[in-house]
Amino acid sequence: MANPSLLILAGDGIGPEVMAEVKKIITWMGDKRGLPFDVTEDLVGGAAYDAHGTPLTDATLAKAQEVDAVLLGAVGGPKYDVLDFSVKPERGLLRLRKEMDLFSNLRPAQCFDALADFSSLKRDVVAGLDIMIVRELTSGVYFGEPRGIFKEGNERVGINTQRYTESEIARVARSAFELARRRNNKVCSMEKANVMESGILWRDVVTEVHQKDYQDVELSHMYADAGAMQLCRWPKQFDVIVTDNLFGDLLSDAAAMLTGSLGMLPSASLGAPMANGRPKAMYEPVHGSAPDIAGQGKANPIACILSFAMALRYSFDLGDEATRVESAVEKVLADGVRTADLLGPEGGSPISTSAMGDAILAALDASL
Ligand code: NAD
Ligand code: IPM
Ligand code: MN
Repeated sequence: MANPSLLILAGDGIGPEVMAEVKKIITWMGDKRGLPFDVTEDLVGGAAYDAHGTPLTDATLAKAQEVDAVLLGAVGGPKYDVLDFSVKPERGLLRLRKEMDLFSNLRPAQCFDALADFSSLKRDVVAGLDIMIVRELTSGVYFGEPRGIFKEGNERVGINTQRYTESEIARVARSAFELARRRNNKVCSMEKANVMESGILWRDVVTEVHQKDYQDVELSHMYADAGAMQLCRWPKQFDVIVTDNLFGDLLSDAAAMLTGSLGMLPSASLGAPMANGRPKAMYEPVHGSAPDIAGQGKANPIACILSFAMALRYSFDLGDEATRVESAVEKVLADGVRTADLLGPEGGSPISTSAMGDAILAALDASL
């Protein structure tokens, strides 16, 4: 049988830096675990714009549609701020998500014990935290029409439209309920049904899907603003949170700080099953291209490495190998190994991106 295939789109800024560490782990899996992957690499975001004048070529998209999983680093950067909106790096990422129909974005926030004192919240609040935000990723205000900047009388008006169909809500709700069954069996759905019609429909449809097929799962509803407050107050009340595209974007960045650093948070973007039964999938860290630290060897590669672990689990049924990678990360953190983002104001001596990758590799070796 052919090896599983991966397309690596490292992107911009720290994207290629953190992806270099993931590549070491992919090679390690082939050499030490007898699990070789066929890896191809291509450009996305600003890097693709520089080479081709577009943040995602049709040829790259076609490759992404064919492989078993895509690994993406990050896109964007100040260099591209001047570009027309239609060719900005972020458009390439959004097009990939939309065209691959990756509607269910899993963003886990897990607090490793070694970092519990480092979070901006108290140890008690975050220690042992393990929640999963399921963000709808292919619709809502990110994609709704009409959109644009128009002239209205003698001033301009900027318009985006929050739009959700029943089927779009139902499919992401199902994915959240299915996940909850494999976790602690609780889903909290977040919207703003108090002010938005799309929120009313969201609440109705989630409730209908629950009634019909998932009554064994505990379901609650919360307004998203209150949800943000509860995430900071007592995040351990949650197991799975399901929410729309924009609220999910905000809530997952907030959840990142529960874990200590944005450099820790992985994600999986999943679509419908392909012919081989695997979900169409792309894995990427939640963080961006971090222009403030790009090119300095300071980036934390853990979010990207944990994203590869999610690929092992969700695309390749290699849950044990995923746990092996996660345990290696946990061990390195417990040993006090820190990139700069994981040091508090009192400082300490940070190690580089590649030294962190090497430390994780050494922990993987020790696991054999
Ligand atoms: P960002 O996530 O790039 O950075 C926010 C802060 O977190 C910065 O101080 C950065 O140094 C720090 N940080 C992020 N990742 C880190 C890591 N791995 N290790 C250590 N520190 C890390 O967000 P931003 O500054 O708002 O956006 C910068 C660019 O990235 C923008 O162009 C934005 O559109 C883009 N972006 C891309 C993605 C993506 O590709 N998925 C996600 C978010 C933002
Ligand atoms: C994310 C990012 C993206 C988003 C941008 C870069 C398009 O912030 O993946 O969280 O808003 O979805
Ligand atoms: Mn974001």
